Amino acid sequence: MDIKAFYNLTYGVYIVSSLDDKRPVGCVANSVMQITAEPPLIAVSINHENFTNSCIEKTKRFCITVLGENINPLVIGIFGFRSSKDFDKFRTVKYELKQNLPVVSEGCSYFVCELVSKAETETHTVFIGKVIDAEMLSSDTPMTYSYYQRVIKAKTPKNAPTYIKEQK
Ligand SMILES: Cc1cc2nc3c(=O)[nH]c(=O)nc-3n(C[C@H](O)[C@H](O)[C@H](O)COP(=O)(O)O)c2cc1C
Repeated sequence: MDIKAFYNLTYGVYIVSSLDDKRPVGCVANSVMQITAEPPLIAVSINHENFTNSCIEKTKRFCITVLGENINPLVIGIFGFRSSKDFDKFRTVKYELKQNLPVVSEGCSYFVCELVSKAETETHTVFIGKVIDAEMLSSDTPMTYSYYQRVIKAKTPKNAPTYIKEQK
């Protein structure tokens, strides 16, 4: 199998958020896609080890904030490489509550979702949510995963579906 074939799959870069009791939590995810228009359904794949996974399981709700090219890279650094298990990530960014879920204010747009279905794999849960609220936040160009790799030049942690083991 040629691992390079996977490089041709395209993605965006998002914050997937939820609540731990009343505390806002969330992580970076590239694996977001729209499933259907009517009803409006969105899916995201979240690793079992990510704290965000257990919070979506408990609350049955999640929110997707679309990140733009002008986002402060520190937001991706904190939300993509630290865990809400032991760190209050939302203390480090400006955010607002939409339908009681945290939205990163610097984002391009957001989608508030109610969990309607999920699929389990060995390492990740694919959560499918029905969009109950969505708004535009700015006119910034949505960041693609390839922009993240080419321009921001940061790594991808092992819990991301797109993680590729470094060759020895
Ligand atoms: C660019 C990028 C994309 C990522 N995509 C995903 C993803 O789609 N699914 C996932 O489970 N983790 C993904 N991650 C990893 C999580 O953001 C990371 O494991 C995070 O620390 C989990 O935080 P939590 O424990 O607070 O949930 C990604 C990270 C980066 C930097």
